[in-house]
Amino acid sequence: MNKVKYQILKSAFFILFLIVGLSSCNHDKTKPGYAYMPDMYYSLAYNANSENPVFKNKMTNQMPVPGTIARGHMPYPYQAKNYLDQIAAGNELMNPVEINLQTLAEGKVQFDIYCMSCHGELGDGNGYLYTSKLYPMKPTSLIESYVQSKKDGEIFHVITVGSLSGLMGAHASQINAEDRWKIINYIRNDLAKK
Ligand code: HEC
Repeated sequence: MNKVKYQILKSAFFILFLIVGLSSCNHDKTKPGYAYMPDMYYSLAYNANSENPVFKNKMTNQMPVPGTIARGHMPYPYQAKNYLDQIAAGNELMNPVEINLQTLAEGKVQFDIYCMSCHGELGDGNGYLYTSKLYPMKPTSLIESYVQSKKDGEIFHVITVGSLSGLMGAHASQINAEDRWKIINYIRNDLAKK
């Protein structure tokens, strides 16, 4: 007798389980249904520049932890716009870019975008900004011995932080390091030999 009761109870539980299980399936495909822990399904996302109650300084954008370096980024140690740093960069930095037809062509593309307007198509200083009198000072010729006798690292320094006088601005934020080296190769191995 007990065994029969147990069987009935077992079947009743099974049917109840089926009903609850099936009825919890979502019939209306346009509604997400009931979420058991809504705060975990729908987490709060903050916009990059919005206020943020979680951090001490109340900002969502946080500075990197001191001493960390972004993947693929090489910090530039010669930040100062002075002669000593320019010379140090010249002595200590090596141009890592292999010179071949492809990298020279890529250097030309970057040169034409970022340098030609001032230094000219031929690198002689007769760029449009100067010849149209929009820019007051003639930019240095890049193909004569004054620049050609500088080491690659020195020219890299000028592109990165700007010229010593400040008349030519820093280009580090526009041109990545590899492209700066390609520009130097292009000036030396193409423009200066024309
Ligand atoms: C807005 C105009 C302008 C642009 C753009 C510009 N330059 Fe210059 N550049 C100048 C001027 C002006 C000088 C001379 C400034 C001075 O003597 O301080 C100069 C000087 C230089 C020098 C000589 C620095 C020295 O030690 O005397 C180099 C090398 C140079 N530029 C390379 C470049 C390269 C490479 C680019 C492109 C990535 C570039 N410049 C983009 C205006 C410009």
